[in-house]
Amino acid sequence: MLIALGSDHAGFQLKDRVISFLQSSGINYKDFGVYSEESADYPEQAALVVQAVKSGEFTFGILICGTGIGMSIVANKHRGIRAALCSEPYSARFAREHNNANVLTMGSRVIGPGMAEAIVSIFIHTEFAGGRHERRLSKIETLEQY
Ligand code: RB5
Repeated sequence: MLIALGSDHAGFQLKDRVISFLQSSGINYKDFGVYSEESADYPEQAALVVQAVKSGEFTFGILICGTGIGMSIVANKHRGIRAALCSEPYSARFAREHNNANVLTMGSRVIGPGMAEAIVSIFIHTEFAGGRHERRLSKIETLEQY
């Protein structure tokens, strides 16, 4: 498993916390920035992480901004990306199980670090259930041409 991480200035501290969590869990990752709390535009880091996931080299992307909303909007503009904004573990579980989400977004101004760790943990360890959900994902794919 290889995780691509990115944030804007608002998500920088929580990203660092998630990185520590991944390190202590023995999970490989690459940090696509930002590397400080200097003001940054979230579409830039979102684009880097999304391209990394689309390349096939990375299993999942994790994007953090103040609310998680901007990152989610940007990531979901990209074909093949299913980004899920999660603020609790239940949504994270079903984002994987039912939606086969490949990008997790979180809001550093919405949730605390303990919650973020719980969300990340369940997201990366939950498998897509397939079955009827495959059909639904195919229907999403057909919309990606518009
Ligand atoms: C930055 O102030 C904030 O707008 C950004 O982190 C994010 O919440 C946008 O969706």
